[in-house]
Amino acid sequence: MVAPKAFLDFIDDHGKELIDRLKEAVAIPSVSGDPARREDVKRMAAWLLEQLGRFGVNAEAVPLGEQIVDGTPSDLDLPPILLGRIGADPKKPTVLIYGHYDVQPAQKSDGWTTEPFELHVDYSNDKMTGRGTTDDKGPVLGWVNVLEAHHALGIELPVNLRFCFEGMEESGCEGLDALVAEEAAKGDQGYFDNVDCICISDTCWLNTNTPGLTYGLRGVAYFHVTISGPGADLHSGFGGSVFEPMTDLIALMSKLVTSDARILIPGIYDGVKPASEEEIELYNKIDFSVADVEQAAGGKIAISDDKATVLMGRMRNPSLSLHGIVGASSGVETKTVIPARVTGKFSLRLVPPQTPEDVKIKVETYLRSEFAKLNTKNTLESIRMEGGSAWVEDYKHYNYEAAKNATEVSRLEHSLVGRLPTHFGGPFASPTSSLQEIWLKTPDFFREGGSIPVTLTFAEKLGKNIVLLPMGRGDDGAHSTNEKVNISNYLQGSKLLGAYLYEVAKLAPKT
Ligand code: BES
Ligand code: ZN
Repeated sequence: MVAPKAFLDFIDDHGKELIDRLKEAVAIPSVSGDPARREDVKRMAAWLLEQLGRFGVNAEAVPLGEQIVDGTPSDLDLPPILLGRIGADPKKPTVLIYGHYDVQPAQKSDGWTTEPFELHVDYSNDKMTGRGTTDDKGPVLGWVNVLEAHHALGIELPVNLRFCFEGMEESGCEGLDALVAEEAAKGDQGYFDNVDCICISDTCWLNTNTPGLTYGLRGVAYFHVTISGPGADLHSGFGGSVFEPMTDLIALMSKLVTSDARILIPGIYDGVKPASEEEIELYNKIDFSVADVEQAAGGKIAISDDKATVLMGRMRNPSLSLHGIVGASSGVETKTVIPARVTGKFSLRLVPPQTPEDVKIKVETYLRSEFAKLNTKNTLESIRMEGGSAWVEDYKHYNYEAAKNATEVSRLEHSLVGRLPTHFGGPFASPTSSLQEIWLKTPDFFREGGSIPVTLTFAEKLGKNIVLLPMGRGDDGAHSTNEKVNISNYLQGSKLLGAYLYEVAKLAPKT
């Protein structure tokens, strides 16, 4: 079973409308980490729910109650989880789709060249810029585009679909684990009935020209460390007469990691196996160069000249990054102040067998002993941690085979190539555009350095194979300024997601 020509044509013929859909979604600033934006996150949920309903999905918004802040419920409601289903044909396999409709914060003043919440479509450079274009509104709308095409054409979907879309992914997925467990426990009565495999489109290719499939994610342990002393911020004329919280915090934060990325916390590497020769070879084979990482990073700053070292640093080794200090003077002004209470933020990316709980104990023990050595009279008020575990999948599974087949365009009867929406002009019109070269390749299989905490929850609660099928490219700049998705990736990616469903229908064992 291959994706019908009419479906592929639909995406090509409706490029403008599909881009408008992304424009609407980007215009809703659904920043989950900012309480002031919570209404926008809920508005985004309502918008997405309406879209799903419009194309035949039976969906509901499940409320999650109040957000817990510092251990106590706040009067801030969590955004709902959208659960949905379409199809209940026992002869078809059932695929569960996960995505998130919230985004990272963004302000023009961070260095965006266009307004982050106004989709900027640049046909001549094949780019659409805006917060969430690649992480994760573009991919989520890719699924909606597949639904719309089938609905409009009156073509039956090749599989039964189940949906789970959340609005707190970028802020630690609060509430989702419990809901997944609850829903999974309902068995045939719940939304995850008869799920055969799972697909998540929320990662990117490694580079800009080879599609990829992601079979692993690092876990995360995110720390907030608070030190206080004076009753209020002090004039720094007090300097020299008092212990300063900021000085203590910087001392602690400077003892976490070296400039060349070695983590200094005792025992942190326990159990993490060194890479075998064979594994190093695997990394050497990936279509990716040190220059690619530098291009994606926008600077010549790779940790080594050795490709395997750089790749393993990103995918298979733990890392520690310093993020910021809350409560410090952060404006451009020359403010002579001694901040009274400061919170340092840093996180570790984890790999098996590290767990957030184990890492928390090691970090806390180390910080407390280093703090004691400072002989300061300030108080180490609290060490908070939020986390999620790493996940690595068996990629020799039909779910990966399906994603791989769908990605190798040459395997599609109706090649995606040649079906270029020429009415856009720009790169689409050119027979030599990169668009034609992108999709003819076999995807790289790789692990990603970031995290999607619910992946492991799905794996544990449903026990089904999960494939991460990316839409965007390695230089999309998720979480960064000028986040973008290529127009070609959005449109071809919508076809890819649809084609994947047809491949699953073909490859899933008949029950
Ligand atoms: N889409 C990302 C995961 C990702 C990261 C994909 C890097 C590709 C490259 C996801 O939305 C994300 O950002 N997750 C957070 C989770 C955290 C807040 C628990 C992350 O990795 O920082
Ligand atoms: Zn993200």
